Amino acid sequence: MNWHSRYTQQAKWTRDLRAYIFNKIKLDQAQRVLEVGCGTGAILSELSPDIELHGLDIDPAALAECKIHVPSAWLTRGNALQLPYDDSSFDVVYCHFLLLWVRDPLQALLEMKRVTREHIIAFAEPDYSNRVDKPEELASLGKWQTESLKRQGADPGFGARLAESFFGAGIQIVETGTIQSVEREATLEEREMEWAVIESDLAGWVEDADIQKMKAMDQAARERGERRLHVPTHFAWGRVWK
Ligand SMILES: C[S@@+](CC[C@H](N)C(=O)[O-])C[C@H]1O[C@@H](n2cnc3c(N)ncnc32)[C@H](O)[C@@H]1O
Repeated sequence: MNWHSRYTQQAKWTRDLRAYIFNKIKLDQAQRVLEVGCGTGAILSELSPDIELHGLDIDPAALAECKIHVPSAWLTRGNALQLPYDDSSFDVVYCHFLLLWVRDPLQALLEMKRVTREHIIAFAEPDYSNRVDKPEELASLGKWQTESLKRQGADPGFGARLAESFFGAGIQIVETGTIQSVEREATLEEREMEWAVIESDLAGWVEDADIQKMKAMDQAARERGERRLHVPTHFAWGRVWK
């Protein structure tokens, strides 16, 4: 799996939201910005190199790739639960598809709050417990993917608790909601990538014949123009005053 391509594809789903919030907070005037769980740098690479960009991730392989895509960034291997930065050392701290993967998301938010002077943004946290798959015959696919996330250690329903977690961490919410529904009908290449992820996630615990049957039904439903897929994906933008 080419993770950078995958993350770049996911980054498209929040592009409008990022443009909106970054404009509101005047990101171009920020001096130091941190992405927690920066992965391969799909989001960081879109930010101005005039800003001092920092990325933290637990996975050294992701950081090595991030260095290629965002050579100007300061990258650190570390855990979101214990950020290796001083208090109030960034103007903006954000994450993108991170908190569902973290064992204790409240602690991660407390750490993000500690190291920021002003803005905290969680751009995308999905809620697979309310996923919609149409036609009905594709509902099992949603259930399998939800189960697969659990097996990989994620909390597939975390998105629904994002705002509550901001409150729990004492972060004042400026805006929260769900990102615009993304019809994942993209290009053929993107669809193939989506299926490569599904096949690898389900391998070993769902029969290959069942996976291939589902793939064929998905394809046929798309060709008929009947495929609908919606995963409510939540965001929250908060502020702290110090
Ligand atoms: C789905 S990827 C998203 C990457 C990037 N934010 C993006 O959207 O392109 C989640 C990233 O979070 C990292 N991660 C997971 N748990 C973490 C933790 N406890 N501390 C730091 N990073 C973590 C993973 O290694 C992975 O790179």
